[in-house]
Amino acid sequence: MKGVGKFGEVMAGEKGKVSYDSLAERLEKIIHSGSQKKAITDFVCRELRKIPHYTWVGIYVVDGPELVLASWSGPAATQHVRIPIGQGICGAAAASKETIVVPDVNADPRYLQCFLNTRSEIVVPVMKDGAAVAEIDVDSDQLAAFEPPDRDFLGWVAGELGGLL
Ligand code: SME
Repeated sequence: MKGVGKFGEVMAGEKGKVSYDSLAERLEKIIHSGSQKKAITDFVCRELRKIPHYTWVGIYVVDGPELVLASWSGPAATQHVRIPIGQGICGAAAASKETIVVPDVNADPRYLQCFLNTRSEIVVPVMKDGAAVAEIDVDSDQLAAFEPPDRDFLGWVAGELGGLL
């Protein structure tokens, strides 16, 4: 199966052990299941949050000039359910169509605060026909939590979602 068996890493933490490969296998199945989009994005958020350093996971979709929160999984809701494209890390990623990794959110003036305990963030755009149609936003309570494997893995998830959203 495409995408499965190439991530290899097992992440361990207080949530237990998570293998990126078995996660990729579950994600691939549900994304291509034909289920409703909202059910799929909810599932994707819940599954991604099993990764120990992923404290809060959300999927925003582009709606005209704004990003709208479609699904999330985490300890608390965010007040940022709509973010203008161009604002915050989320809005910057949608505008630039590039993944943005922020190792220390308190050092980035673009950062829109949602949770007091967030220390680092990654935002990965979901592209379709050259346009950003959605994005995956992950907050971590750990400083500099996101490394190249996270960028690769979330990039793969975003690629799979691009065919759906
Ligand atoms: N921190 C984001 C806003 C969304 S919350 O993290 C859920 C940003 O700067 O765009």
